[in-house]
Amino acid sequence: MSMTYYMDVYGCQMNVHDSEIIAGILEADGFTNVDNPELADIILLVSCAVREHAETRVLGRVCQLGGKWQDRKQGGPLLVLCGCVAQEHGQDLLDRIQKLDLVVGPDCYKDLPGLIHNSTRQALAEFREGDYTGIDAVRKRFPGAFVTIMRGCNNFCSYCIVPYVRGRERSRSADSIIEEIRDLSEKGYREITLLGQNVNSYHDLDTSFPDLLDQASDAAGSAWIRFVTSHPRDFNIETVEVMVSKDNICNHLHLPVQSGSDGILHMMNRGYTVDEYLEKIRMLRNAIPEIVLTTDIITGFPGESEEDFQKTVSLLDEIKYDNAFLFKYSERTGTSAADLCDVVPEELRLKRLNYLQEFQRGITVEKSGKLKTRILSVLVTGNAKRPDQQAARTRGNRMVILQGTDYEPGTFVDVRITRADGWTHFGEPVGAKDI
Ligand code: 5AD
Ligand code: SF4
Repeated sequence: MSMTYYMDVYGCQMNVHDSEIIAGILEADGFTNVDNPELADIILLVSCAVREHAETRVLGRVCQLGGKWQDRKQGGPLLVLCGCVAQEHGQDLLDRIQKLDLVVGPDCYKDLPGLIHNSTRQALAEFREGDYTGIDAVRKRFPGAFVTIMRGCNNFCSYCIVPYVRGRERSRSADSIIEEIRDLSEKGYREITLLGQNVNSYHDLDTSFPDLLDQASDAAGSAWIRFVTSHPRDFNIETVEVMVSKDNICNHLHLPVQSGSDGILHMMNRGYTVDEYLEKIRMLRNAIPEIVLTTDIITGFPGESEEDFQKTVSLLDEIKYDNAFLFKYSERTGTSAADLCDVVPEELRLKRLNYLQEFQRGITVEKSGKLKTRILSVLVTGNAKRPDQQAARTRGNRMVILQGTDYEPGTFVDVRITRADGWTHFGEPVGAKDI
């Protein structure tokens, strides 16, 4: 009988797709997936290290699962920690958590079957060249599919652990990416998301990101193309021109600004000023007036004064993002910001976060409210939480709930927005559409 595995994943889309790659590696080796940890021979947790909270959560889960079974020799499963926390702490985790059997970093997943069969406690957290081209990922998000175009990051934003846990930036070959997209489109996938920590610095020989996007759009056929994450320093007009020229590239841009203060941006090592950022937004909105814009912001970065914070509030007010993901600063050991002295007290970080959340909520509601009664093309993605509802996405990546419909996931439908009071909307079909 084949060995069974259960997997939980935390963190960003890159990690979610890595878990699909891990599933591909395991299933090619004969393992089968179960959705109950009690039935698994192997439990894998794919961890995120970006903030302390994410790290604490996954380690809590490791201990909880580890505590369930006295000993593997008495029938307990093999417990495997993958992902960014595995890379960050490596062997330390094996020393600290007795119930943990394997610790495997993001570049070493191809070794998983061997390590599991070998079954000695071990940490493998090397940085390696290369990528997972050729692995048949087990995708779990039909009609959506992630395609990793690059791994790692060279930016070294001063708060960020990613360059330390994901290593140097490397781009996948354009040919293999395009082939993967063509294959996904032929298999019926209808929303293909290109993934990288900084997609705009993609480079393979002569192929830059705008070139890749152009080719990806052709290869995708009728499928939509999205891409994350863009860096404001590298996002350029050539990319916007491709977005304008291709119907199937979604009109959504996630462009993390992090702060509205030049002083803080400088301390964050972001490589742009607020004016330069605003100029890019103007250029983008000129070309694509309907663009849906989202961002990330950190509150309470070391040295952030009340005045700095107010500049962030003003920037949100000026740009009016459709949605913003807001975080309070979390100190990450090993990053250069962790050495800064002028620490903002935890309560103040939280107070600013709460204020900003309330402030942005008003803008999100106002902007989504404008969609009421409009007709938008959406992609039905699957079941919603309630059994009598389906979930769909707009090109702008807004979630739309459909009441009482029964479309095949992957169908494009025109809907009239009936309720819009935040990032989630309700829609009524006005006729099936096959674009
Ligand atoms: N503390 C808080 N937020 C962080 N992010 C990255 N590192 C940290 C940190 N140390 C946020 C940034 C990034 C998003 C993915 O997570 O806003 O864009
Ligand atoms: Fe993704 Fe960064 Fe978290 Fe790793 S640390 S899962 S790369 S967000």
